[in-house]
Amino acid sequence: MKAELTVLLAGSDGQLGTALRRTAPDTVRLLTPARAELDLLRVDTMNAAVQAARPDVVINAAAYTAVERAESEPALAHAINAEGATALAAAAEGAGARMIHISTDFVFDGRASRPYRPTDPAAPLSVYGASKLAGERGVAACTRGRALVVRTAWLYGAGAPNFVTTMLGRMREGAVRVVSDQVGSPTWSRSLAAAIWSAVARPALSGLHHWADAGVASWYDFAVAIQEEAVALGLLERAVSIDPIQTQDYPTQARRPPYSVLDVHETRVALALPPVHWRTNLRRMLAETTGG
Ligand SMILES: NC(=O)c1ccc[n+]([C@@H]2O[C@H](COP(=O)([O-])OP(=O)(O)OC[C@H]3O[C@@H](n4cnc5c(N)ncnc54)[C@H](OP(=O)(O)O)[C@@H]3O)[C@@H](O)[C@H]2O)c1
Repeated sequence: MKAELTVLLAGSDGQLGTALRRTAPDTVRLLTPARAELDLLRVDTMNAAVQAARPDVVINAAAYTAVERAESEPALAHAINAEGATALAAAAEGAGARMIHISTDFVFDGRASRPYRPTDPAAPLSVYGASKLAGERGVAACTRGRALVVRTAWLYGAGAPNFVTTMLGRMREGAVRVVSDQVGSPTWSRSLAAAIWSAVARPALSGLHHWADAGVASWYDFAVAIQEEAVALGLLERAVSIDPIQTQDYPTQARRPPYSVLDVHETRVALALPPVHWRTNLRRMLAETTGG
């Protein structure tokens, strides 16, 4: 089938970038410059990449995602997640391309007792969250609200280390302790990629949206599910003890929201995608790693 849309993807080697590369529809001509050719720290590379590609859509899946390290590297996190994202959106806007930008549940402080809607006030607790919020605002401002900004949560998938790969590694060594008082929605990178491709096909969609897999879990629940599924698939030889602990027993540099469930209802309707429970997608992801 003839490609109808040219899409320029920043961050194509990360988790989301990998999922987008692997699932691009035939109707899309996907351009995936390496980081040196599209560097969010260098405006000249962003302008050159956009001008060379003449894209219909620019997707920003690139980000500084080291939540812990960001506490000691706030300037770098801000330069990539806020200034870099804004400059890329400005380049897209200048070239008449639509901008799709990804943000995070960590823009919220986690004090809510119902899923966060896109219109709820943001109040990040961490440097990373603040840098991503500044990026959202910069992208919206320089595209006069025409950009699509999709917040997601607890992402895992091929392409980079994540909670699933970390847990599997630790479980092979022995017992693990996992925080049980932070609650969110584990989200497979493929699920987010499907949502983004659906959004690419809907050019009128703009503004702030939320996307995550259905259902909620604590990190402890997520770890228990990872172990059960991995043992069933033969990815782990035996089950180990998993102990639930409190956030205060696992000190970290960055503060994280205790509750960051996203309300995805409106986005799911807009994208015409059915809810898929996080555990179903976890099973699919693990089955893929076994070649199943
Ligand atoms: N991971 C999560 O749990 C999570 C949760 C909520 C929201 N999000 C958001 O979802 C999006 C995708 O996250 P992800 O998990 O796919 O991230 P990821 O796996 O860490 O990938 C990020 C990508 O961005 C690239 N990158 C970093 N700095 C760059 C720069 N200056 N110029 C160009 N590229 C650069 C990285 O390249 P290198 O490998 O060379 O560093 C990497 O390929 C991000 O916006 C993130 O904030 C993630």
